[in-house]
Amino acid sequence: MKKIGVIGAGSWGTALAITLSNKGHQVVIWDLDQKHLAALTNDRENKRYLPGVGFGENLNTVPTVEEALKDADVALFSVPAQHFRSAFTGALPYLSDSTLIVNVAKGIEQKSLQRMSEIAFDIKPDAKYVVLSGPSHAEEVCKAMPTTVCVVSRDKKLAEEAQDIFMTERFRVYTGDDIIGTELGGSLKNIIALGAGISDGMGFGDNAKAALMTRGLAEITRLGVALGADPMTFLGLTGVGDLIVTCTSMHSRNRRCGIMIGEGTDPKEATEKVGMVVEGYFTTEAAYGLAQKTGVEMPITEAMYDLINGNIGAREAEEMLMGRDRKHEEDKKFHIQTMGCQMNERDSETLAGMLTGLGYSKTENRQEADVAIINTCSVRDNADKRFFGTLGQLKKIKEQRPDFVVCVCGCMMQQQHIIDRIKAKYPWVDIIFGTHNIHEFPQLLKSVTEEKQKIVDVWDEAGDIIEGMPSKRLYKFKAFVNIMYGCNNFCTYCIVPYTRGRERSRHPEDIMAEVADLVSDGVREITLLGQNVNSYKGMGENGQADFADLIYMLQEVDGLERIRFMTSHPKDLSDKLIQAYRDCSKLCRNIHLPVQSGSDDVLKRMNRHYDRKNIWNLWKNCAEQCRIYRSRRIS
Ligand SMILES: NC(=O)c1ccc[n+]([C@@H]2O[C@H](COP(=O)([O-])OP(=O)(O)OC[C@H]3O[C@@H](n4cnc5c(N)ncnc54)[C@H](O)[C@@H]3O)[C@@H](O)[C@H]2O)c1
Repeated sequence: MKKIGVIGAGSWGTALAITLSNKGHQVVIWDLDQKHLAALTNDRENKRYLPGVGFGENLNTVPTVEEALKDADVALFSVPAQHFRSAFTGALPYLSDSTLIVNVAKGIEQKSLQRMSEIAFDIKPDAKYVVLSGPSHAEEVCKAMPTTVCVVSRDKKLAEEAQDIFMTERFRVYTGDDIIGTELGGSLKNIIALGAGISDGMGFGDNAKAALMTRGLAEITRLGVALGADPMTFLGLTGVGDLIVTCTSMHSRNRRCGIMIGEGTDPKEATEKVGMVVEGYFTTEAAYGLAQKTGVEMPITEAMYDLINGNIGAREAEEMLMGRDRKHEEDKKFHIQTMGCQMNERDSETLAGMLTGLGYSKTENRQEADVAIINTCSVRDNADKRFFGTLGQLKKIKEQRPDFVVCVCGCMMQQQHIIDRIKAKYPWVDIIFGTHNIHEFPQLLKSVTEEKQKIVDVWDEAGDIIEGMPSKRLYKFKAFVNIMYGCNNFCTYCIVPYTRGRERSRHPEDIMAEVADLVSDGVREITLLGQNVNSYKGMGENGQADFADLIYMLQEVDGLERIRFMTSHPKDLSDKLIQAYRDCSKLCRNIHLPVQSGSDDVLKRMNRHYDRKNIWNLWKNCAEQCRIYRSRRIS
């Protein structure tokens, strides 16, 4: 049996403390509200939230957080989501490295738009973190009524450990590994429950509620998938299971709050009247922020946001939702074919993120796609033959389905003669856009689908770097991270400076924030991308950082295990970067130096800015500093 410290003695913390102590664990419970805590100590019952259910001998209150967590095997956090950061920070000094951390708060932090696990890993990167979620009302759990939940962790063993600790005959616990989906499912269903309550309060029937729940699940899934969740999670206990219980039960405070709003009470007043935390109220604000950031279409969340902010009334919200454009219920599908390098693969991840946000899902079969994108490359051999061959194949689909949208983008589109050829010979292409205006794609697609016109929108010059674009990453444990764009080298044979523009570096803080997010989602290896990564120069809060500085910063990211980067130009391989190889254990011990030629004359004609002697000196320096004796490839 375990020693368990519960932080937060609201209804859920108390119900779980009762369940765990009745199973035989030694449980202590603490709450920030000292008056409430004194009442619990005195009454040995939570009269405020769960009257009539007494504490057994294994459940006791303690006066401080330190006493709650001293020697605890498990720290169970059950505080409102907006208070999780402060509760976790306050608990940190008393958490040992072996303490299993179980969090049950369901919400997204308003200020940072972070999920609870992101906050926990920010504060304690090595946290043994598990989230417990699912359809579970405290009022039923404390009376040992049959309930099923999921414990979810990126480490299977931790989830199984939690399963053993919590499982009883009447409290059935499943395990899972999709933290993003679980946390989003548990948080976002509260917004829909508010809406379901409003619908009930306005006197609407079961049809309206079923519509809200079903379309609510669709928009929750869209946002979840855009943020990296597994869509199947939303069909399980922590998704649709929790949504059903919250939207239909009188135990749901979100629904109760909604009913009051639907009956005409001011939203703020309604949350105060409920008397307990109405998570949906706060989560609406955060989810709206995430929808804006990712470009995901979330009409119910948007209507709820306007409603609780007093911009519209319940009747207008209903009109807004019912009066939307006609739609096909099933999600539309997209297919992307990527030609070329990792930069193009990364751009395709961004395009996939945008399309997911617009409600499209990915298909590997172009025949069933509603939108097909070919992301082209102008460097690789045979690329244009392959590209025009593929374009030819799309003609047939377009003839059969005139609504099928054909889009072409990438480096080839930065060349006018290619655009002219497409316009003359491939009139079934709907959208041509370039490498500098990917962020405009949702708008371009909207114009084409709504106004049925063809668009050519290719920028000659690169604009500012756009941060925060959505992304649907290709891999779970490794990720591409752009650090810079463009190239200033003008090698005689290379088109890249013309198709990708001049060098622009991202701010180091933006790169570090992206990497921190990736790591908290389970990524362990990153590949830094740029046409010429080692000429990176990013202006940060502490002045300018070069590529080596960036590597040293990334070395410090807890949880990140490997750093790789793309081919680097030999002229930009600085002594400082070679020293970074020596010092930074996470930087993979290989380097690709495209020497290109052994002839000084050829190198000069290639405009490479180095000669044989430079290369040998570089090589000697590498070998001396890092004891690298073998390169993978000298080409
Ligand atoms: N009630 C349920 O049935 C249920 C079920 C599943 C999940 N949840 C989730 O669990 C979380 C807690 O819900 P609840 O129903 O217990 O809320 P509640 O409003 O009943 O109680 C929250 C308690 O947390 C305490 N608290 C606030 N900040 C604190 C801090 N920094 N340190 C310690 N205590 C603090 C408050 O004093 C209060 O007693 C919410 O995110 C909720 O969505 C609730």
